[in-house]
Amino acid sequence: MIERTFVMIKPDGVKRGLIGEVIKRFEQAGLKIVGLKMYRMDKEEADEFYPADDEWFESVGNKTLSSYNELGIDAKKELGTDNPKEIGKMIKQWLLDYVSSGPVILMVLEGNHAIKKVRDMIGSTIPIKAQPGTIRGDFSVDSADWANIGKRAIMNIVHASDSQERAEYEIKFWFKENELYNYKRLEEYLL
Ligand code: TYD
Repeated sequence: MIERTFVMIKPDGVKRGLIGEVIKRFEQAGLKIVGLKMYRMDKEEADEFYPADDEWFESVGNKTLSSYNELGIDAKKELGTDNPKEIGKMIKQWLLDYVSSGPVILMVLEGNHAIKKVRDMIGSTIPIKAQPGTIRGDFSVDSADWANIGKRAIMNIVHASDSQERAEYEIKFWFKENELYNYKRLEEYLL
């Protein structure tokens, strides 16, 4: 049940002065920070970090397509294609520009069912759809149509691992073993 997960405060979160606010929410929820650093990645590192399989491209493309459907926007007209894989590939390039555009905060959080808990706390990928109370819902009104028109990624403040497998990969990708710490939070003494 005790899991570790990876979280990144993206350049928009850093530049908007939301580092403390984001970290505060995780700390208050009882998640333990076991690794933390600021870093400026380049595009190649970002490319290696984000997935590159067809399933991921399609999933990203389909999120944009379902958002376009809801808004009655013609994807083919706007993006030149309505193929989810092609759209996913296009978005990945914008995403790489975005996450390498400034410093980010990299962190590893540990806690009971931490992977799902953190995903719930950050909210939906597309901020306009993210519930109030979530980080993306409370601090952004960005949307797929707005981002795509500007040929840029959606600015949604944070990234968090979405599975056990991804959490393991992402933690290892950014942190050496000796950059992760074991200690007890006060409430652990109460359990
Ligand atoms: P994804 O893995 O689908 O979402 P999440 O970050 O919630 O795990 O997408 C990765 C990132 O790609 C997302 O955080 C922002 C960017 N993105 C866009 O820029 N436009 C889009 O239409 C989508 C779906 C994602």
